[in-house]
Amino acid sequence: MAGQPASLSGRDVGSFAYITIKDRIPQILTKAIDSLHRHKSKFFEKHGEKGLEAEKKAISLLSKLRNELQTDKPMIPLVEKFADTDIWNQYLDYQQSLLGETDGKARWFFSPWLFVECYMYRRIHEAIIQSPPIDDFDVFKESKDQNFFESQESVIALCTYLQELISTLEVLDENQLKNEFFKFLQISLWGNKCDLSLSGGETSSQKTNIITSLGELQAFILVNDMEHLWALLRPGKETETDSAAAVRVAIVLDNSGFELVTDLVLAHFLLSSRLATEVHFYGKTIPWFVSDTTRRDFTWLVEQAKSSSDKYLSRCGLDWESYLKVGKWVYHDHIFWTLPHEFCAMSQVAPDLYTELQKAHLILFKGDLNYRKLTGDRKWEFTVPFHQALNGFHPAPLCSIRTLKAEIQVGLQPGQGEELAASEPSWLTTGKYGIFQFDGPL
Ligand code: F6P
Ligand code: MG
Repeated sequence: MAGQPASLSGRDVGSFAYITIKDRIPQILTKAIDSLHRHKSKFFEKHGEKGLEAEKKAISLLSKLRNELQTDKPMIPLVEKFADTDIWNQYLDYQQSLLGETDGKARWFFSPWLFVECYMYRRIHEAIIQSPPIDDFDVFKESKDQNFFESQESVIALCTYLQELISTLEVLDENQLKNEFFKFLQISLWGNKCDLSLSGGETSSQKTNIITSLGELQAFILVNDMEHLWALLRPGKETETDSAAAVRVAIVLDNSGFELVTDLVLAHFLLSSRLATEVHFYGKTIPWFVSDTTRRDFTWLVEQAKSSSDKYLSRCGLDWESYLKVGKWVYHDHIFWTLPHEFCAMSQVAPDLYTELQKAHLILFKGDLNYRKLTGDRKWEFTVPFHQALNGFHPAPLCSIRTLKAEIQVGLQPGQGEELAASEPSWLTTGKYGIFQFDGPL
């Protein structure tokens, strides 16, 4: 787009984008293939010989994909009919139209990283849907579930804290309530460290009690707009005309497993404290960036919580189930979230979703990939205002809650980025730092 910085891309040899395409994505593909291998006997039990044939077919399609990537072959159109196939192929055409000086073919190490990485996950999905009867298999499901089980102690600590707090909420003064709100926001932020894409599909669970670490982690919050969120939601806020009015908070989810638990306890707190009256969650329609939440993951996690032998976790599970039943929590999915488009294109590409998000008083965008899509995954100067990088995307007041896992960050103080780079060259990509970055009412 004219007047905007260039996209991050694998063209920049040695960049995080380059390393991701060269090393991390093939590693993730190999793990996906392994997962199919490991389920061979399950496929046989369920579908007989047809299951075995399908497993072979999916593996050969994924191996071909890995080879295309590693030899930097042109990116090819999708062939299998699915709800978003045409939109994807149009987007591929659009990317090719931008490549005047080359042979006009989009390539893995040449095209924008955001596009390449999304395309890879969409091709994994294509390999699976081309392989019936195992066409609803989620190659990442096992690792997502494992992340939840490995984080059990922290999950229980969080649910215990929440349930005990709820019984005292009525007697908290406004300052105490604000402190608790800030705690749950930070829990949700650091929950974003646990994604399985950064770790190349390797386990990345939360083993320590996150609540006791919040104090020491505070120093790693580079942009902290939590006060703005409080000003929007606090009891007696100026915008409130009727105290019984609905307050809708939208959470655009990221990873399943531990991070999802941190988002659910935040949402639970918002309702119990009456800072919000409804919470709408937005998840992915297909397996995505290894650990992203699909409807199946969401439902699975609520079920796991409900049937836990721990009384606080199971009480949470029961509460979550009833919030969903009565519509205080609503789960939505939409194909837009698994398209390669930047969010500034949403009002054109998915006007229905944009209109839906406009109904929120506040939208929380979880995680790194959402940040990349909010800001267009471009080489912005660190000091460029967030509002500018959003490039007109503003369905409602919004906040990115993200740990840094890609070489992009805007809205920093002059010199802040340079100072960090000098003392810690990998500060942008390890997930050690986090932000609450807000773009308020227009
Ligand atoms: O490690 C980088 C990466 O693969 C990025 O491409 C992506 O932004 C991130 O992982 C996924 O992180 P998150 O789950 O926070 O969106
Ligand atoms: Mg993710």
